Amino acid sequence: MTGTGKRHFIKTFGCQMNVYDSERMAEALDAAGYAAADSPETADLVVLNTCHIREKAAEKIYSELGRLKQIKSAREKDGRRTMIAVAGCVAQAEGREILTRAPVVDLVVGPQSYHRLGDLVGEAAVNGRVIDVDFPEDDKFNHLPDRPVKRRSASAFLTVQEGCDKFCTFCVVPYTRGVEYSRPVREVVQEAERLALAGVCELTVLGQNVNAYHGEGEDGTTWSLARLLRRLADIPSVRRLRYTTSHPRDMSDDLIALHGEEEKVMPYLHLPFQAGSDRILGAMNRKHTRAEYTETVARIRRARPDIALSTDIIVGFPGETDADFRQTMDLVKEVEFAQAYSFKYSARPGTPAETMTDQVPEDVKSERLHALQALLAAQQAAFNASCVGRRFEVLFERRGRRPGQLVGRTPYLQAVHADAPDALIGQLIEVEISGAGPNSLEADILSVADTPDLASAGV
Ligand code: 5AD
Ligand code: SF4
Repeated sequence: MTGTGKRHFIKTFGCQMNVYDSERMAEALDAAGYAAADSPETADLVVLNTCHIREKAAEKIYSELGRLKQIKSAREKDGRRTMIAVAGCVAQAEGREILTRAPVVDLVVGPQSYHRLGDLVGEAAVNGRVIDVDFPEDDKFNHLPDRPVKRRSASAFLTVQEGCDKFCTFCVVPYTRGVEYSRPVREVVQEAERLALAGVCELTVLGQNVNAYHGEGEDGTTWSLARLLRRLADIPSVRRLRYTTSHPRDMSDDLIALHGEEEKVMPYLHLPFQAGSDRILGAMNRKHTRAEYTETVARIRRARPDIALSTDIIVGFPGETDADFRQTMDLVKEVEFAQAYSFKYSARPGTPAETMTDQVPEDVKSERLHALQALLAAQQAAFNASCVGRRFEVLFERRGRRPGQLVGRTPYLQAVHADAPDALIGQLIEVEISGAGPNSLEADILSVADTPDLASAGV
């Protein structure tokens, strides 16, 4: 399609699945004749791709809409029209309410309708405000344009699974993203091959419950995530594979074994446990006990002793006592995480936990979060410090803040800064870790003689 002279600006909130969706929306809008704008001020269409997981995340959208209202009226004074679209999980969860609460919004579009974005914007321009938050029967991925082969970052996300059937009592995901859906293997492999052609050498395979993947295989049978990852590892220029987010219940034997067998699968795993007490895990409907979690971790570590573990933890779930919280702290001490995300419980509309009695007071939640985050920060710092003096392959992804500096990732997903020429962006390079901070590492590039990749990069 030829350009319309129009520009879009997409702002992404929330998880990696939204980052992936935003890329796909940009591609759908490219196909509808929109180019990318650098800022909302220069955009004819602004899309907010939103997150509904916690109250704070959802509230952010309304303050963002306040800012956009000013931009929209300033542009209007210059005779330029601005369409504003709310996409993502807030759109799905709140639907029409958004139109009532924020008159500035022209279009509300749920995660299942992104392929129709171009049409919906056209419709809203002609007929006024439009809302599309349906869950269609057919596969939205099929309708999105093929990912164009253009130079992109060396690391890319690839969504293979959406939705969740687990129904943890605190979580909105089963309502905003619907039931589990796995993309067929053929579709995933085609997309991976296109990305590889465009220079991507690290794929992070995404799903809300990615290890529950059960897609139709190339041979007509149902494939597990492990089998899909083995297939992706066959693509020669794919050098690194990651996957997220996994549920402890779905860490199957074949997936655990893969960590010990397939070199391309990185030694890093994000495995949320949410709470350390069995009573709270039960109330959360997590479908695993504390002992099952530690047993799963032990099996993973037997398969891949150096694996770096990450997790999600919630403090202050309704009914959580000091003793329950101590069990969360003890579990963190027992497992030792390389990094983690931790949150205060936030009541979400329509979830079972919202109406549970004995909600924990805000100041108690804050105190617990503070203590937990101090412990997690100490574990992360210790893990980072243990890497000093070691040699790793780092995938350099982009320039750093200082001139002459690049930023990349170790196999354990730590950010690494090194003084290195731009030619190394997109390359896997052997480095030696020279320093460690709380959130990142410093490294020296090893000499050309030590690093065949450097020679091929022409350095
Ligand atoms: N309150 C706080 N944290 C939540 N999460 C999900 N729902 C809530 C909620 N209602 C956290 C969980 C999940 C992560 C993505 O967000 O830890 O794993
Ligand atoms: Fe939400 Fe639980 Fe599903 Fe994760 S497993 S998306 S926390 S319902």
